[in-house]
Amino acid sequence: MTATPPLLSPSDWQPLIDQARRLATHHLRDLLQEAGRVERMTIEGAGLVADFSKQRLDAAAVDALFHLADKADLADRRRALFAGEVVNPTEQRPALHTALRGRAPNPTIGREVAGERQRLSALARALRAGEIRNAAGEAFEHLVCLGIGGSDLGPRMVVDALGPLAGEAGRRIDVRYVANVDPADLERELAGLPPARTAFVVVSKTFTTRETLANGAAALAWLGRAGIAEAAGREHFIGVTANPEAARRWGLADARILTFWDWVGGRYSLWSTVGISIAAALGPEGFDDLLTGAAQMDEHFEQTPFTRNLPVWMGLVSIWNRDGLGLPSQAVIPYAERLRLLPSFLQQLVMESNGKTARLDGRATTVATSPIVWGVSGTNAQHSFFQQLHQGPDVVPVDFILAARGGPAAAGDERQRILVANCLAQSAALALGKPLTGKGSDPVWHQAFPGNRPSSTIILPRLDARSLGALLAAYEHATFVAGVVLGINSFDQFGVEYGKAMATSVEQWLAGKGDLAQADPSTRALVARLAPGVDASTAGS
Ligand code: F6P
Repeated sequence: MTATPPLLSPSDWQPLIDQARRLATHHLRDLLQEAGRVERMTIEGAGLVADFSKQRLDAAAVDALFHLADKADLADRRRALFAGEVVNPTEQRPALHTALRGRAPNPTIGREVAGERQRLSALARALRAGEIRNAAGEAFEHLVCLGIGGSDLGPRMVVDALGPLAGEAGRRIDVRYVANVDPADLERELAGLPPARTAFVVVSKTFTTRETLANGAAALAWLGRAGIAEAAGREHFIGVTANPEAARRWGLADARILTFWDWVGGRYSLWSTVGISIAAALGPEGFDDLLTGAAQMDEHFEQTPFTRNLPVWMGLVSIWNRDGLGLPSQAVIPYAERLRLLPSFLQQLVMESNGKTARLDGRATTVATSPIVWGVSGTNAQHSFFQQLHQGPDVVPVDFILAARGGPAAAGDERQRILVANCLAQSAALALGKPLTGKGSDPVWHQAFPGNRPSSTIILPRLDARSLGALLAAYEHATFVAGVVLGINSFDQFGVEYGKAMATSVEQWLAGKGDLAQADPSTRALVARLAPGVDASTAGS
């Protein structure tokens, strides 16, 4: 294990706070007029372009951020990440998602990654070619992925963004996702599917996640109800896991188990065999392109000086907004319908990584950590919550994301221009505002816009696998950068464990078992209300 990296003291943070205080009286309207500002604050990497000039920063504030990064020894932390050192000390693990994109820290890991990638590609190719067949010899046409959190959000988002549109020609396998243990989720996705021609992928790093295994069992039962006996039914399943032993116990044959490693965090796992559904939907070449885009961003992140480094800017700007300006949330608004699921992917990436208060030394942080990340696609967002972004009391920084070129259908279509125009207009309106115009002593308050509301605009050259791979890797590294400055471990997630453990007891109580008297009065009453036959007044009390 590497030595504990330097943790920032309140005095280290002071210059940043001072800069934020100084800039409190500056308006973006004026900051935007600084000579050379847009050029200085437009950063390019791996084909992406990000304009940070509408952030409430100036050169001195940016310097303070770089100073913080130096104090936290970001350069060494970045080295440690790529080198496969233990950057997740609470679980004593490296975090080697970059190894999945061709940056293996040693030949053994390189060989293992290449071996599983080959198996993934072969399986995806066979699925697409109709060569994977049921016990009766019929080809599978539908692939339903069962997984949750990091075992779902990434592949679901990528396939939604890049997958074939309904009606597109060519033989492909129809790919769907089910995450929720609510029976309605599986039921909705299975409605109308032919059981004999439907395959399932159970994706679970641990292969112990209650929701995923319950959905796996329900899927098996669905096949059973269609007359497919259990042994034949299990042949409809593929497992993807870092715990192959558990997948074997679940009844899967080795040939149907793709593996990955404990050094791949769940929310960083779409690049591993967890991406089988991406390869099935896009073809293995499409998956390779996604990895190539991410690898290009890895190289940019690793080799570019901080001052021109895209993920470093993204991470430090998020620190500025959260800890300099004290803004608690961050909206992500893709002006691309195909990226509509990006905000939910980023919610897990950012909030599960940095939504913590314990520092690496176990003490509480003295500064705020992750923002609350949220958003939906534009222009839809404009017609719901943008009212509040423009005129509400809270300032919410926005990441606007758009593609310079839309899909083939967008070429020459006026709607693409309308989409882009709206994206640019919104960031300008948020920054500039509109001064109060008064009629005598009757100011038109309701038509005034305060402005000075920060945003970044990130442009993808086009909406394809390479650009998306680069964008996702940029957000991953930005999250890491923020975590390093905050002095927290971005790679564990103990926060989700307690609720999971408690659900086990509640499940018992709902089934009329266990000692309900152990529940707090509120939970006891709720259990009694929801579980027929359980009486809160008598249950164990
Ligand atoms: O929700 C917590 C979590 O541990 C995530 O980090 C993970 O992505 C998800 O559960 C699913 O876990 P698994 O892949 O082990 O089923």
